Amino acid sequence: MKTSRIPGFYKKSVSERREVLKDLHSFTEEEAAALYAEAPLTGATADNMIENVIGTHPLPLGLGLNFQINGKDYIIPMAIEEASVVASASHIAKIVRNAGGFTAESTDRVMIGQIQVVGAPDLQKAKSTLLEARDQLIQGANDAYPSIVARGGGAEDLEVRILNESSESKYGQMLVLHLYINTCDAMGANIINTMVESIAPVVEDLTKGKVYLRILSNYADKSLASARCVIPPELLETGSYSGEEVRDGVVHAYEFAAMDPYRAVTHNKGIMNGIDPVVIATGNDWRAVEAGAHAYAARDGHYGSMTKWYADEEGNLVGELELPMSVGIVGGATRIHPMAKLSLGMMHIESARELAQVIVSVGLAQNLGALKALVTDGIQKGHMALHSRSVAIAAGASGEMIDVIAEQLIEEKEIRVGKAKELVEQHKK
Ligand code: MEV
Repeated sequence: MKTSRIPGFYKKSVSERREVLKDLHSFTEEEAAALYAEAPLTGATADNMIENVIGTHPLPLGLGLNFQINGKDYIIPMAIEEASVVASASHIAKIVRNAGGFTAESTDRVMIGQIQVVGAPDLQKAKSTLLEARDQLIQGANDAYPSIVARGGGAEDLEVRILNESSESKYGQMLVLHLYINTCDAMGANIINTMVESIAPVVEDLTKGKVYLRILSNYADKSLASARCVIPPELLETGSYSGEEVRDGVVHAYEFAAMDPYRAVTHNKGIMNGIDPVVIATGNDWRAVEAGAHAYAARDGHYGSMTKWYADEEGNLVGELELPMSVGIVGGATRIHPMAKLSLGMMHIESARELAQVIVSVGLAQNLGALKALVTDGIQKGHMALHSRSVAIAAGASGEMIDVIAEQLIEEKEIRVGKAKELVEQHKK
């Protein structure tokens, strides 16, 4: 990847953009075929992915530009139906790039497998028996999936929790074993579920209880990724708003979300606007990422902002985002979906940890994009520019006429299909 900075990319046609991309990348034949195919995911492949297939459901795939993370440039594929998201992420990435780029970190990809034990006659005894059998259980789990051990991962540790130990809840007591599994570059659902299922009979035997659930936890709080940016206020100046005004507005917007769940949900939805499109483009499980992210936003017992924004001593705006990030670069749809392969290739991602760092950086950028718009002109202005293009197309405009009609709709402050149809008619005459 030479650079993620491609001035004027948005003004080009789709095929011109593909050409630019081709110059920047040495695509494999397979990737090039996926890029140029009208239906990259064929019905036959789709039929092998889920049940009762009748077709595929494509989404626009756009590129988040200007991203620099830990000194490396990334062109970021984003699969999303919502206008303005890609433009906003790219706009903020450009500002952050001028401020030195994002810094990002991630832990090892340690995932949690849960085994639920009900009806053990002595919970404390069952807990200590399981802890004493730690090595045997870890070995049993690893024997069930030797290939992940060969890749340097596998089950590494375990913990045993007693739920409702003091009988305060209306529910019964139960014991839960957590198996900690390093899934390396895989999201790891199959690895984890195979391991917990394989040791469940031993757990039953040791505890004298009954095992019900054996399944991974999507609350992947041992597989965290974080991103940070530090932006001097002068880079935030927007129209008639000074950089300091924008900075303070963003901090107040954060405080609103930190205190109020009604605002936090929308604030966090804006973060997921950046995260989900990359998770989807790379063939990962966005429901898993969504569920884990929202739970993490409530980890202190109160649902609040996923991000943190504050001014440092020099007056810079500092943004931080840490989230569980259970994504992989091998296995699952990443292996079979041609666009997922293309997306990973385009970013030159070398590990799942690196992908996690990229994803949280996009989430942080997306949040700032929304907040910056909200504390200045509001989001409608940006939205309307793209919306007016869709309205023009819906009214029958094509080619160069789309932009002309879209601009007229904005100028006349009447972004409706009826109005656009009138303009198209006039234009044709
Ligand atoms: C819209 O998809 C996302 C926003 O509502 C996020 C936010 O309010 O922070 C603009």
